[in-house]
Amino acid sequence: MTWEELENECKNCKKCELSATRTNCVFGCGNRNADLMFVGEAPGENEDMTGVPFVGRAGKLFDQYLAAVGIERGDVYIANMLKCRPPKNRDPKPEEQDLCIGYLREQVRLIRPKLIVCLGRISAMRLIDPDFRITKQHGQWVKRGQFEMCAVYHPSLLLRDPRRKPEMLTDMKSVKAKLDGLKGEAAE
Ligand code: URA
Repeated sequence: MTWEELENECKNCKKCELSATRTNCVFGCGNRNADLMFVGEAPGENEDMTGVPFVGRAGKLFDQYLAAVGIERGDVYIANMLKCRPPKNRDPKPEEQDLCIGYLREQVRLIRPKLIVCLGRISAMRLIDPDFRITKQHGQWVKRGQFEMCAVYHPSLLLRDPRRKPEMLTDMKSVKAKLDGLKGEAAE
C-alpha cells in the first residue's frame, strides 16, 4: 500500500463509532523516512480540530522535551494508536484499538523506523507488553524484531503530575542518545 492509499483509507474509515464524531482523522505527521517514531494514544480536542497529532497542551509540553534534548519535530514521525478522538478523551476501548491498529502497522511498515517510542501506558501496553508498568519500565529499551522500543511518560500525565518531569527528561535524553548512536552505526 502507498502512503496516499493508506491516508485515503484512514480518512474515509468508518470501522468504529469514533468516525461518527470526528472532525478530522489524525493520521500522523513528520518525516516518512524517520529513524525515530513516536506513538501516542489518541487525538484530543485540538488534534481533532486540526488533524495534526500533539498540538494541544500536552503536545506543546512534548515539543519542549524534543527541543530540550535537541530533536527536531520535523525529523521524526508522530502518530497515535487511534486516529480518531474518543469522546471526552476517554481511554481508547480495546475493540477500537483492534480496528485501528492496522493503520499504525502499515505506517510502521512504510517508514521502517529503527526506534519506536511509546508515549504513555496505552501504546506501551499494546506495542511492547500487555503488562507494561509505565512507572517502573519507562525509559527501558527492548528489542522487538528489527525495532528498538521504549516507552516514556505521556505528556498529559506530566501536566497532571509535574513531579515526574525529571524522569521524562532523563528518558528523552536516552532517546536522543540512541538516535545519535544510529548515526555512529551508519558511519562504521
Ligand atoms: N494525546 C495523544 O496521545 N495524542 C495526541 O495526538 C494528543 C494528545
